[in-house]
Amino acid sequence: MGWRVVGHPAQRKEVLGKLTRTAKYVDDIQLPGMLHGATIRANIPRGIIQSVSFAAGVPWDEFVVVTSEDIPGANVVPLINDDQPCLAGKRINHQHEAVVLIAHENKDLLRRARNLVHIECAPLPAVFDIDEALRQDVVIWGEDNVFKRYLTNKGDVDSVWAEAAHIVEGDYSTGAQEHVYIEPNGMLATANPEDGVTVYGSLQCPYYVHKALMALFGLPAAKIRVVQQETGGAFGGKEEYPSMIAGHAALLAWKSGQPVKIVYDREEDMAATTKRHPSRTRHRTAVSSDGRLLAMDIEFTIDGGAYSTLSAVVLSRGTIHAPGPYRCPNVRIRSTAVATNAPPHGAFRGFGAPQTLFALERNMDKVAHAMGLAPDEFRRRNFLQTGDATATGQIITQPLDLAGLQGRALEAAGYHHKMEAFRAANPDRALKKGIGFASFMHGAGFTGSGERYLQSVVELEGTAEGGVCVLCSMTEMGQGTNTILTQIAAEALGIGCDQVEICRPDTSLVPNSGPTVASRTSMIVGKLVELACRDFKERLRCEAGLPESYSPDEFSASVRGYVARSTGALRTRAQYAEPPGIHWDDHNYQGDAYGAYSWATYVAEVTVDTRTGEVQVDNFTAVQEVGRVLNPVLAAGQIEGGIVQGLGFALLEKVVWREGAMANNQMTNYIIPTAVDVPPMQVFFEESPYEHGAMGAKGIGELPMDGPAPAILNAVENALSVAFTHVPLTPEDILSSQSIQLPAEITA
Ligand code: MOS
Repeated sequence: MGWRVVGHPAQRKEVLGKLTRTAKYVDDIQLPGMLHGATIRANIPRGIIQSVSFAAGVPWDEFVVVTSEDIPGANVVPLINDDQPCLAGKRINHQHEAVVLIAHENKDLLRRARNLVHIECAPLPAVFDIDEALRQDVVIWGEDNVFKRYLTNKGDVDSVWAEAAHIVEGDYSTGAQEHVYIEPNGMLATANPEDGVTVYGSLQCPYYVHKALMALFGLPAAKIRVVQQETGGAFGGKEEYPSMIAGHAALLAWKSGQPVKIVYDREEDMAATTKRHPSRTRHRTAVSSDGRLLAMDIEFTIDGGAYSTLSAVVLSRGTIHAPGPYRCPNVRIRSTAVATNAPPHGAFRGFGAPQTLFALERNMDKVAHAMGLAPDEFRRRNFLQTGDATATGQIITQPLDLAGLQGRALEAAGYHHKMEAFRAANPDRALKKGIGFASFMHGAGFTGSGERYLQSVVELEGTAEGGVCVLCSMTEMGQGTNTILTQIAAEALGIGCDQVEICRPDTSLVPNSGPTVASRTSMIVGKLVELACRDFKERLRCEAGLPESYSPDEFSASVRGYVARSTGALRTRAQYAEPPGIHWDDHNYQGDAYGAYSWATYVAEVTVDTRTGEVQVDNFTAVQEVGRVLNPVLAAGQIEGGIVQGLGFALLEKVVWREGAMANNQMTNYIIPTAVDVPPMQVFFEESPYEHGAMGAKGIGELPMDGPAPAILNAVENALSVAFTHVPLTPEDILSSQSIQLPAEITA
């Protein structure tokens, strides 16, 4: 019928609610008798709690006070291991560990009371970075400070060193990064033994919170309800921590019998919630005389913070992305997630891949320079092609032309021409220009067998008005989930976007479609929406006489008629089934790590002021192959936003640590990019539809976080001939580098 919704911009589903203030964020909700909750934290990095005291100054009898002894179920925030308590009872493992919760209806009194609770601790020696953790002089977790190790082996790297024409080594590191979503974490809870526990909040993964509350209260699934409120950004930062704060609000509500709301202010949110894992990656690379990769020996280590949380899976994604989009017969990756006495590091857009891809794409330039090859030529000789195997032995079956994609990006950016011009002009200038790029990929969906274990479900229901409602647990947080799923349903059913509703994620209403993470919403859950629509149409054809070809009005009439006649709901359901031919071996870490990868080359053009050390990104070009673009405006928005977040990661966003706590937890001293830092961005998509993704789509959300940092540092090296190996690269770092040559006569 020539229906075309997908591939075109559609009005954002949630836009009217946001514009007219009918959209409610958690802090917009007031319930009768509601109390405000606050969290009292340890304030020492490691120790044993001796006593808790409450100094005079507020009417303590009016307060609700909760400690770990008030927890009805298990004192745990369950995730992969159950090592993190919801409230510390005895042992303290980081400064922001929650020990006591208090609540009162008066926010001013609450603020005063916070400073009157004193936690006495006997300090224990603590560990603050990767090297200390690996030295094991002080053991703070398990027997060896190690949360997880992987060893990935392909071929035999050690057999190659002797015959290699060149061996190049590099050591790279990345810092922590704060998400700085616009809306901080917040939860509102009601709870009592009769009705169970209900929480409303800002979150990515309703069923993670649901699982956490079941354990904390020892209640069955039916007694726990989790409702997502409008959510002002997340970027991975509302994947884990909402389970913690939901538990806190619910414990206060349980004890008081009154609704309790906890909303963090910016300082508390920055200090206490998760950040990107700091990392170190070491490369040893062997190449042949004709510039082919012979061996990649990679060591990757991340700082997981005080509890294991998601570090094992962040490590896994980082490990699998570490050798990048290149063909290499011998690859060994040894990776380790270690414990330190910092708040647990967690999910952040890219999930380990920005760390290893930064190291890889800096190292690829280093190897190219060592060989006297142009960086683009060296990559061209080594790109994966259709039929090749990745480091985990995944055979690339899709059509793939990375040399073509890289070539288009370099041409669109004027790379070769600009490089020549900058080389000629730079020696006489204090403002030195450079251009650099990175080629990379990002796997969409859960890693390995993850999607098979998740068994995600989506349902579709006919409404009395003659439309459909999509029931799933995917969350809108500003990225466009509701619009994209609407477009997929409208396209699949041949109806208008206004005939599609998206049910609010509420665990009492929607099935578990898995978490809104891992660039999986469009590709994986979108496909389930597509399948549920196909069955829905089929049922209307068989049971309500919907003709083969129909108009949107005829569809509506058919649904209305069916719903009016029928006693039961008009509902279809789709559940994830692994696409045929996908195999993953959890034990040996070999096989098809992801259903599909998106591929990209990003080019950055910079000016470095050698007098101030400041780097300005002047221009940015992003070319990516993402299967199919479902909505060009939202897709470009994902890429542009990712570039800006990547620019912050590369140049600006430095977490200053003091005894395992963030010292600059304010927006005045944790610097993120603003409009003046953002360059013009050219965004281009290539489309090569992926048959198992919705309407051909692959993942897109995390990809743009991976490329900017290496592209920018490669450009800085091109400008200064200094090879920096860490991010964030600050003006101080650049100025303190001894090797920058200032021209005799500065002409700026
Ligand atoms: Mo994520 S970083 O997979 O929300």
